[in-house]
Amino acid sequence: MKSNSVSTYKTSLINNRRYLGNKYKLLPFITRVVKDQNLEFDSFADIFAGTGAVSSAFTDKQIITNDLMYSNYICNFAWFGAEKYDAEKIVEFIVRYNSESQFPENYMTENFADTYFSADDCARIGFIREDIENSFNNGDLNKRERAILITSLLYAMDKIAKTCGHYDAYRKGAEFDSSLELYVPLAEQNNNENNQCYNMDANELVKSLYADLVYIDPPYNSRQYCDAYHLLENVARWEKPEVHGVARKMDRSELKSKYCTQSATEAFEQLIADIKAKYILLSYNNMAEKGNNRSNAKISDDDIMRILEYKGSVSVFSEGYKAFTTGKSDIADNAERLFLCVCKA
Ligand SMILES: C[S@@+](CC[C@H](N)C(=O)[O-])C[C@H]1O[C@@H](n2cnc3c(N)ncnc32)[C@H](O)[C@@H]1O
Repeated sequence: MKSNSVSTYKTSLINNRRYLGNKYKLLPFITRVVKDQNLEFDSFADIFAGTGAVSSAFTDKQIITNDLMYSNYICNFAWFGAEKYDAEKIVEFIVRYNSESQFPENYMTENFADTYFSADDCARIGFIREDIENSFNNGDLNKRERAILITSLLYAMDKIAKTCGHYDAYRKGAEFDSSLELYVPLAEQNNNENNQCYNMDANELVKSLYADLVYIDPPYNSRQYCDAYHLLENVARWEKPEVHGVARKMDRSELKSKYCTQSATEAFEQLIADIKAKYILLSYNNMAEKGNNRSNAKISDDDIMRILEYKGSVSVFSEGYKAFTTGKSDIADNAERLFLCVCKA
């Protein structure tokens, strides 16, 4: 808890949110592989960045983040953006948002009251999001300040949502026992001035990108992130679309990922072919044939090896940190694996 002359406020860090497939806990493993393999690089591209947790371990380099979801782009830009921001202003906005208590009906109350959030919290969320947009449009916030405030709102929503961590359904009849409170994200003021953040299909981005090290962490299975996080995406975009069904989802047809479908292998093959880098580092979980249909990995280990070996020399590391060159026999059940490809010149 910190305080300024106006009031007290709490602060948050990049890992203070839940996210499927978040690699924050694997950072010691990932950074150890990078260090032990003596990878020399000045730029790090995290092209399926999600929360940006992996990029947060490489802030001494130029960072390039990308994600198909606008909500992740916004958070990544908040944490890693090169634009300067006024930290005092962020505190003032957040203290004001936490202290106001009368809010008019809005898009959130009309569509989400007493679902994932209480009617009161919906009123607050809708008011805050609208105010951020108005303040940006009238020049009171720059792009990075807008992103930091939206990030604060998304993290706060995620903390109290009556879900099981994702928004496929809300817990009917659950008591709304905590109310929305925004924290001040402790975003770095002096990020590398060459950092870049994108909101694109990774397959398109790599056609025009060069980075020394490209880190790839695509979805593994048929679970679409735009389904699991539709509400955060809706609030981040603030286009106020119609929502449908019990889960109150908007149209997400433009946000579906090929990596969650039968075309995953084809998409991966094209992605690797188009990457221009010294090194490619891939995280891929080994649920190829082990779970139920929904959790089965979409790309087989044989295909991963075939595709990467065409690009360069490949080593595989599992969390137990046993390195081996090829084949699957050493891979522990359900291990997180890292595939390192040193690309041919
Ligand atoms: C396994 S998660 C990444 C988790 C991330 N490494 C972290 O630590 O938070 C996969 C991410 O890929 C994104 N994604 C899916 N398909 C994509 C595509 N074609 N291009 C870019 N991002 C995509 C999803 O929105 C999701 O955030």
